[in-house]
Amino acid sequence: MTGGTDGVGKEIARAMARRGARLIIVGRDAEKGARAQQEIRAFSGNKDVDFVQADLSLMRQTRRLGDEVAKGWPAMHYLVHSAGVVRGRHLVTAEGIESNFATNYLSRFMLTVRLLPALQAAGQPGKPARIVMVAHPGFEGTIHYDDVNLTTNFAMIRAFKQFHYANDVFAVELARRLTVSAQRPSVTISCLHPGPTKRISTAKCRYG
Ligand SMILES: NC(=O)c1ccc[n+]([C@@H]2O[C@H](COP(=O)([O-])OP(=O)(O)OC[C@H]3O[C@@H](n4cnc5c(N)ncnc54)[C@H](OP(=O)(O)O)[C@@H]3O)[C@@H](O)[C@H]2O)c1
Repeated sequence: MTGGTDGVGKEIARAMARRGARLIIVGRDAEKGARAQQEIRAFSGNKDVDFVQADLSLMRQTRRLGDEVAKGWPAMHYLVHSAGVVRGRHLVTAEGIESNFATNYLSRFMLTVRLLPALQAAGQPGKPARIVMVAHPGFEGTIHYDDVNLTTNFAMIRAFKQFHYANDVFAVELARRLTVSAQRPSVTISCLHPGPTKRISTAKCRYG
């Protein structure tokens, strides 16, 4: 569960933990992650909640996270991508990638590819493992293949539309490939748009 330390991801993590799932939550900040881990454990009574620190704007760290998780968890039933951030200024990571694109799309792509074997090991036709992208629809989005980093014409809205559209294209194409190789795939991928959300206290939260 990337983004399991806050917001939508943390709420999903709480619900999953309550249902008895073994969970790994991922975030950048070690202290915040440890707090979220304790909070989810206390709320759910489930001790099987781990935290792994990784900055998903960096592909080196995303790769390390994928390898670590794949090694420790060779069979996985869910991969939830909820980590996300929208930066209004043009920031290029130490690896030379525009940070919105790196965090919100490229890391999702890389982590999915790295963890697909673990998902395929756990999923079965009729009871597939699931990849869920917490996202926003990429309406009217474009991938600026000639300048993915938006160096010449950066605007927050262009960055936003580009990474959401890239996620949609990735999800649709991966879904197609998963169903081409098997009529009843052992892994499915879907995009979830939560709509505008606001923080609510745990006491008011109801889980289905
Ligand atoms: N909230 C809404 O109204 C809404 C509406 C539509 C779609 N969405 C989508 O839902 C997703 C979650 O949004 P949210 O509102 O829950 O956000 P949020 O409350 O700000 O939480 C963002 C989460 O992402 C993690 N994160 C951010 N940058 C990261 C990085 N570089 N590396 C690792 N983790 C990182 C944060 O962890 P740390 O702080 O610990 O690093 C945190 O757990 C986003 O993809 C967003 O586009 C949200």
